[in-house]
Amino acid sequence: MPALAEQVIIITGASSGIGEATARWLAKAGARIVLSARRADRLAALAAGLDPTGERVLVVAGDVTSDLDRRRLIEATLKKFGRIDGLVNNAGYATRGPLEIVPVEAMRKNFETNVFALIALTQLVVPVMRAQGSGCIVNIGSVAGRIARPLSSIYDATKHALEAITDGLRGELQPFGIRVALIQPGFILTEFIAAADKASDQYTDHPGPYAPFMAGFRVGYKKLRRVAGVPDDIARLIARALASNQPAPRYSGPLHAKIFLFLKWLLPDRVMDLILRLRR
Ligand SMILES: NC(=O)c1ccc[n+]([C@@H]2O[C@H](COP(=O)([O-])OP(=O)(O)OC[C@H]3O[C@@H](n4cnc5c(N)ncnc54)[C@H](OP(=O)(O)O)[C@@H]3O)[C@@H](O)[C@H]2O)c1
Repeated sequence: MPALAEQVIIITGASSGIGEATARWLAKAGARIVLSARRADRLAALAAGLDPTGERVLVVAGDVTSDLDRRRLIEATLKKFGRIDGLVNNAGYATRGPLEIVPVEAMRKNFETNVFALIALTQLVVPVMRAQGSGCIVNIGSVAGRIARPLSSIYDATKHALEAITDGLRGELQPFGIRVALIQPGFILTEFIAAADKASDQYTDHPGPYAPFMAGFRVGYKKLRRVAGVPDDIARLIARALASNQPAPRYSGPLHAKIFLFLKWLLPDRVMDLILRLRR
């Protein structure tokens, strides 16, 4: 398959940020795309801009954590386009806060979206790709999948899980001609922080022993904005993976992501602990 033109590619989390940029990027390259997320109005507006004829872009709004919605997404894609060449598992969000304080139920919810929904959707897509003898699955991980930070360990754990899942899956699907790649974005300016604040305010604003450190945590994010990337930095990597006959196991970007990953590889854990330690 590889050239992007005419590929049929499903993108989850296409209503904003990296998913939306990926949709624009792939549509421009001539792919036929399927947009999914919960905010149907956003998807409809994006689709209308990308393809007013509705021939090359399909919107299937839904929640990735719903089994029914996942099945509808696959069925509607096959009904309209008859095949699936790419799946970009991008939908996700972050729950932040001290491990001691975040309720286990909120952690489960984050794992449900970032990990189990991704697995369940992949389970639906693999038989289709196997029957075709080709396909590409691109999972959106994070630098946080390699570097876990204080006050962010829950989200970071979901992305660590994707490292293992992607590695295992790559070997399992290779015999069937299905390619699998992981993208490790650094900090990208999207709606991600607003969504994380919404999901986590009650834990990050919690009065208690961690309160003095939360301000430092926020300052850290503000500083990161100076080096932050834009969604297109990641859309480009996703497109490169989908267009490759032999994608790299991992793609990271922008530059600060590569530097952090290199430091993690180079430095002892104790030194990383010092770099990431809580500050008031
Ligand atoms: N921005 C960063 O700095 C960064 C860094 C590393 C990795 N990432 C990863 O990149 C991916 C995209 O994030 P982003 O930065 O583009 O953030 P974003 O702008 O907040 O986009 C997140 C997308 O996920 C969708 N989504 C969330 N929960 C969903 C659910 N239950 N069902 C269906 N769709 C759902 C949202 O759509 P609806 O709300 O409309 O459902 C939205 O389209 C995420 O997996 C994130 O973890 C981001």
